[in-house]
Amino acid sequence: MRILVILAHPDLEKSRANRALLRELQHHANIAVRDLYREYPSWRIDVVKEQQLLLSFDRIVFQFPFYWYSCPPLLKKWFDDVLTYGWAYGPEGNHLKGKEFILATTTGGPENGYRAGGDNWFTISEFLKPIQRTITKCNGRFLPSFVAYSASQGDDAFLSQEAKRYVEHIQSSPTLLVH
Ligand SMILES: Cc1cc2nc3c(=O)[nH]c(=O)nc-3n(C[C@H](O)[C@H](O)[C@H](O)COP(=O)(O)O)c2cc1C
Repeated sequence: MRILVILAHPDLEKSRANRALLRELQHHANIAVRDLYREYPSWRIDVVKEQQLLLSFDRIVFQFPFYWYSCPPLLKKWFDDVLTYGWAYGPEGNHLKGKEFILATTTGGPENGYRAGGDNWFTISEFLKPIQRTITKCNGRFLPSFVAYSASQGDDAFLSQEAKRYVEHIQSSPTLLVH
């Protein structure tokens, strides 16, 4: 399966968690990585190029650090610009039909904060619903997300373990992920 990871980290130089995940991806020939902040320092997204790229992959992963309960802004802009009416949704907007999508995020907060009554009140799945619906509106298949909790506190051993779990997750068959 050909997998495209669209990575959106505003400051990858200073990242530890997303860089650890990225390092692990580089060992897998079927996984291509696109670093949005490196690709578009001016934030002028080449829509046609992005759309063409999506067509040649079976599964698309959006990888990002969790920022204010959401994704960093260039990824939001990527959704706004690339998922156009008539291409991604609406009449004849069926180019993403059947493609699989996975969200992969790293948090500062611990897992037990992401629940009803916890520090953050809601689960990550609840916070990610706008992106989930964006994908399903575009007829994509939304698969369970990967989350590395407490990623900013993790030491190198923890992060490399999480990176292995990440690659396993994004390579898994839909049946294994869903059940
Ligand atoms: C602007 C900003 C907003 C953040 N918002 C959240 C948040 O809403 N929830 C959370 O758990 N962590 C939050 N964090 C912590 C980051 O998710 C964490 O530092 C990051 O996932 C670690 O990955 P990295 O080492 O690749 O940067 C935030 C960090 C920044 C800089």
